Amino acid sequence: MANACKLAAGNWKMNGLRADLLEARALARAFPSPDCGILLCPPATLISAMAEAVRNTAIMVGGQDCHARENGAHTGDISAQMLADAGARHVILGHSERRADHAESSGDVAAKALAAHAAGLVTIICVGETEAERDAGKTLDVVLGQLRNSLPEKSTAANTVIAYEPVWAIGTGRTPTREQISEVHDALRGAVPDAAMSLLYGGSVKPGNAAEIFAIGNVDGALVGGASLKAEDFGAIITALEAA
Ligand code: PGA
Repeated sequence: MANACKLAAGNWKMNGLRADLLEARALARAFPSPDCGILLCPPATLISAMAEAVRNTAIMVGGQDCHARENGAHTGDISAQMLADAGARHVILGHSERRADHAESSGDVAAKALAAHAAGLVTIICVGETEAERDAGKTLDVVLGQLRNSLPEKSTAANTVIAYEPVWAIGTGRTPTREQISEVHDALRGAVPDAAMSLLYGGSVKPGNAAEIFAIGNVDGALVGGASLKAEDFGAIITALEAA
């Protein structure tokens, strides 16, 4: 394990109603003083209620996206300052679903990250190749290119976490081999502007494969989608990370 902070981050995506806050409360009860950071990123509608539900516990709350501007005429968008005001400490940026569904470029991600840092948020910047890019042997080019272009200047380990999420492994139940994860994470470690930046792996992380993934060098944690929705599953992943 690299000399970076360990983090288990849950991305609820477009899932979760107020009733699901009991999962966040259960997680807080199960991990009163965890040996790693624990973050839940619910949909924006739940951020303030979740922040309230886990107040004074070890669980941190984050957003899934923000706008690059501080405020203004941007119907339906949410600024970084609004996320922070609602109780978020982190924000996921450049998730492949946003890059695909909203045509977000790495330049857009860098602009959003700048705004997030100005609002005092820690950014979780996502990078990852599609299956076609991997098959074409372009994985490292794509991932390192996204890294280079998605990080604003003055990105440090204190304000930035990187998540490597191969697009073909997200929500599919398919995970890369140990060697494939290791190759990308080693390359990321060599390319990040601050060697102490935490590097998360994401894409079909489950209780059954978490320990194996966390044993890989330069993997400091995970960004977890489906398995973060239930405290029991996410708790098992957190326990694996604590032990790594
Ligand atoms: P998954 O999603 O764990 O459901 O594959 C990961 C992610 O998209 O962050």
